Formats: sequence, structure tokens, C-alpha cells
Amino acid sequence: AYVVDVAKPIAPIQPTMYGIFFEDINFAADGGLYAEMIKNRSFEFDTPLMGWLQPASDPFSMNEKSGFASAIKRSEEVANAHFLRVTVKADTGYRLTNTGFRGMGIQERMQYNLTLMARQPEGNTKLHVELIDTTGQVLGKATLTPSGSAWKEYSAQIVATGTAMKGRFSMRFEGKGVVDLDMVSLFPENTWKNRPKGMRADLVQLLADLDPGFLRFPGGCIVEGRTLARRYQWKKTVGDITGREVLINRWNTEFQHRPTPDYFQSFGLGFFEYFQLAEDMGAEPLPILSCGIACQFNTGELVPMDELDPYVQDALDLIEFANGPTSSVWGKVRADMGHPEPFHLNYIGIGNEQWGPEYIARYQVFEKAIKSQYPEMILVSGSGPFPDGEMFDYGWEQLKQMGAEIVDEHYYRSPSWFLENADRYDRYDRNGPKVFAGEYAAQSVAIASPDNKNNWECALAEAAFMTGLERNAEVVHLSSYAPLFAHVDGWQWTPDLIWFNNLESYGTPNYYVQKLFATNRGTAVLPLTEGGKPVTGQQGLYATAAKDAATGELVLKIVNSTATPQELNFQFKGVARLAKEGTLTVLQSDDLEAVNGFAASRNIRPTEQPLSTSGKRLALTAAPYSLSVVRVAAP
Ligand code: AHR
Repeated sequence: AYVVDVAKPIAPIQPTMYGIFFEDINFAADGGLYAEMIKNRSFEFDTPLMGWLQPASDPFSMNEKSGFASAIKRSEEVANAHFLRVTVKADTGYRLTNTGFRGMGIQERMQYNLTLMARQPEGNTKLHVELIDTTGQVLGKATLTPSGSAWKEYSAQIVATGTAMKGRFSMRFEGKGVVDLDMVSLFPENTWKNRPKGMRADLVQLLADLDPGFLRFPGGCIVEGRTLARRYQWKKTVGDITGREVLINRWNTEFQHRPTPDYFQSFGLGFFEYFQLAEDMGAEPLPILSCGIACQFNTGELVPMDELDPYVQDALDLIEFANGPTSSVWGKVRADMGHPEPFHLNYIGIGNEQWGPEYIARYQVFEKAIKSQYPEMILVSGSGPFPDGEMFDYGWEQLKQMGAEIVDEHYYRSPSWFLENADRYDRYDRNGPKVFAGEYAAQSVAIASPDNKNNWECALAEAAFMTGLERNAEVVHLSSYAPLFAHVDGWQWTPDLIWFNNLESYGTPNYYVQKLFATNRGTAVLPLTEGGKPVTGQQGLYATAAKDAATGELVLKIVNSTATPQELNFQFKGVARLAKEGTLTVLQSDDLEAVNGFAASRNIRPTEQPLSTSGKRLALTAAPYSLSVVRVAAP
């Protein structure tokens, strides 16, 4: 029998145990969570008209000689240097069309809110703005009349009369003249919490449903940049969106499995928005900052030690931005953005996947500076990616000797590795640093192979591994699957937790594993043994038990990784009796290759049923290839 000792909790399970890793990879931010539909709205991409079709390249344009557009650069500006000058030479015919991020999702009856900055130094040109589908059919339109030589904001609301998965936005100019344009922006009205220029509601809802304990942002490799100049700098991502400097994305690539040379970061989704998102979901914000080393898989550029100050200052100022009084410099920036209350930042990460003596030297400078000013701040240090999957020493020992609080480990490995490593943390020193399993995902083919699938085999292996995370809650304080999001037409890395197109989204089997663990977390881990041993793969079974102090329930998570049903009997020590009835939630498929998809978004999904107990004992059949979650009250 399997024995659960309710009277002897091993350790608290941290509220941060299961969280979210967010990185702008696979069009997760621009083209994804950030609901802006116009690509290159401020003409700041390296090629200033990228994303915009002019008559020569526009299949629906009638007249190539009707005008032209040129990007003009204001030398005194840094963040939003370019604007577009449109010279209209014919009374009709000139148009500019934005193709969106692999098209634009247009939904019938949805209202789309357009804003743009414009002026008209010459002539008398009208601007007809249109939503169009792939055949050129107009799905909604409005007319603007820019006038005068001063910049003004113009807006229009357009209600779509049809649906298009890969729609476009056109500006048709009528009447000769010169029109200047900037910050051409189009958002659906139904953003998350109806915030103007906000986030895609369906995608945030999927995140909120995970009840995440923390939100890690903004990555990932984009924290580091391919070069230091292209690292993520949070100060450039706050304040008015017109002042946020566009940056080439580290995942902008001609060479990856799918070319994405048009991948830039507008930073419309910036640090304020990440903090706000964390707050919306009741998750701890967990920003990761550059430690002065560019991505070690690329240039690995290092900032000299005597030039590290601005990097450290960024960390100190971020703490002030999040928590400081509104009278402080950065606290005021937060307040001016509409959030005078602090964001309650408790954790800050220094560097992503960095290692070696250069990392340790830089981390120590951050640690000293932050701890001397903010001793209560919890620091997350990095440890590299564990390429061989073993206890490859990427500085762990040194971090341990230095008394590091939390070390971030990453592993992208085969499903069998995850099954075999469910006992990984059994061997970790209880008195050493705590673990943040900050990026992990089973790879069905090979790391980041374009052929990887979010199949049930991978999800089940992750579930087995996660029982090991939870059993070791004394050591593991945070964990997150990665990457989080992928646009079906714009990804660079697979597998990913949530897939979306321009209109729809779905959770993978891996998503439902994460959701079941996170929403059945419990507050203290309990001993669960079979023959005196923890259940870490004997007969292909993996299990963990927890107590939920908030509800008075016991929570069991059981993974059967075999093709055979298994009859299991549980006994409970240290508890007078169990409630007569509990619940059994099962995620299961007989087919290890099974996946979810847009047309079958709930192919693999949890099903719930009542479960009877005898008061002291509980029997259940663990179905083949299944994750079972039992909740039963123990009054
Ligand atoms: O999750 C994708 C990438 O994998 C992350 O950006 C990086 O940290 C890791 O190597």
C-alpha cells in the first residue's frame, strides 16, 4: 500500500512553486500578447517601411505613380526618430497597406480602435482607413481629414463587417498633398480588462487560469541580447509608448528554422505592463536583468568590471520603480503611468543562463549593491543550461559557498530524461541555495528541433518530473515551463506551452499538466511512500502528497507512465478519517503521440469525477498513461 503521513509535513510548498516564464520569442509579445495589430507602427524598424506595402508591391493598388512614401529621420530624437512622409500625386489611387504580424485577426462585429499622429503641411488630402481581407474586400472603414502643419492625434473606431484570419489595414489617400504620419496603431476593443492599447484577452485568460505563483519576465536570451548594445533595458520600456525605443529582437533571424527577419520589440509591452499583469494574476513579479554579459551562445561580450555601474544602477532603479514612494524619481514614473501603489517586488534575477568566473564576479557586485540598500530583496542567480543534463558544474558550488539564495536551472531534455530525473532534487543539499527550475520542457525529437511536438508523451514525462519538484519543495521554490507562447506562423522554437494564431489560442497537453499542478498546489508536502520509499518511478509510478491548509484537503498527484492500469491503495496516518467523498481529476490518453490543436483544443483535457473513500483508505485505478489528482477533505 501507499502510505501518506499527514502528521509529518516535510516542508511548506511555496506559493511561488508553479509560475510562468514569459519571453518575447515566437511572437509572444509583438504579434501575440500585446494586441497591437500594426507591425512597425512608428517606422522604426531597420528598414523603415518593413510591414508596409506601397503600390508597387500591393496587389490591390491601382496606380503605382499615384504617390510615394519616404521615412524621415529626426536627428534630435532617439526613441521615435522616424516619421513617414506621404506625397500624394494623383487625386485617387495611392495607398499604403500594413500586413500585420503574419496578417491581422479581424473578427466580425468587433470594434477596432485606430489612433495615429498626423499633420498635413501641403494640400488637401483625405485619409480613408480600411480593414480588408485577403481578397481585398473591405471589412470596415472610416475617413480622417488631417489638417494643419502641427502634429495632432486622430482616431477612428471601425466595426468589422466580416471575419479574416489574415486581414490587413489600408490607408487610401484621396486628393493631392503631403501627409506626415507616425504611431499608426490599431487595437481590438476587447483587450484584457478592456485596457486601451492592452493585451489579447484570450491569451491572458489562459495565463490567469494557470493561477501562477510568479511571472518571470522578460526572458530568456532577450535579457542578454546577442550583443550588449542589444540587451534588454527596462528603462527604455516604460513611460509613454512614443518614447519607447524599438529594438531588434534577439530572435530576429534569417537562419532559424523559420525565418523571422521582421522581428522587433516595440516595447508596447514593457516593464510597467509586466508588473501590472503579475498583479492582475496575483503572481509575484520576477524580473531578470542583464548582468553585463551578452548571450554566451552568441558573442558573450562582457562589460568591463569598471563599467558595470550603469547595469547595477538599472537594478537599483528597478526596485525603486516597483516599490519606491511616488516622491522618488522612479516611483514617480510608475505613479505617472497610473500606479501610485507599489508593485511589491520581492525577487530580482541577475543574468540569464550565464556562468563562469566572469558571471560570478559580476553577480557579486550586484549582490553587494542590492543587499546593502534592499536587504530584504531575494536574489536569483543563474547557472547555465545544463547541456549534458547532469550535475554539470556551471558555478553551482561557488554560488552555494557564496550563500546564494536561489539558483535558476534550465533543462530541455528528452521525455525519458524527465522520467529518469524525477528524483533529481532528492540529492540536493537542504541547506544550500533554493532552486528555481526556471526553464524546462521535454523535447520529443531534440532540443528546439522544428519537429518537436507538444505531445502527450512529453507532457506526461513533465508531470512525472513535477512530482519530484513538489516532493522536494524544501529545495525547489519556483518552477516554470518554457517557452510559454508561440504564433503558428511566427515561431523560432518548439515545443511551447500555448499556441495561437491571429484569432484563436489553445493550451497544449503540457499546459493542462501545468494547470493541474498549479491549481492543486497544496501548502505543505507530506511523506508518501511505498515500502518506505518515495514513489519515483517504481512500476512506472510517480506520486506526491500535499496538505492544503486553506481548504483542509489532502491532495495527491499520481502519474502512471505505463500502458497498464494500476490499482492503488492509499492509507493515511495521522488523520482521524477522510471525508467520504473527494474528487478525482484525470488527464489521460492511450496515445502518447496525441496533441491538442485549434480544431481539437481540448483533445487532451482534465476530466473530473467523484471519488469515494472508506474513511481511512482510498483506492483508485491509475489509468494507463495518466496524471491523476485526488482532493479529499481530512477534517
Ligand atoms: O526558452 C528559449 C530559450 O532557451 C531561452 O531564451 C533561453 O534562456 C534558453 O536557452
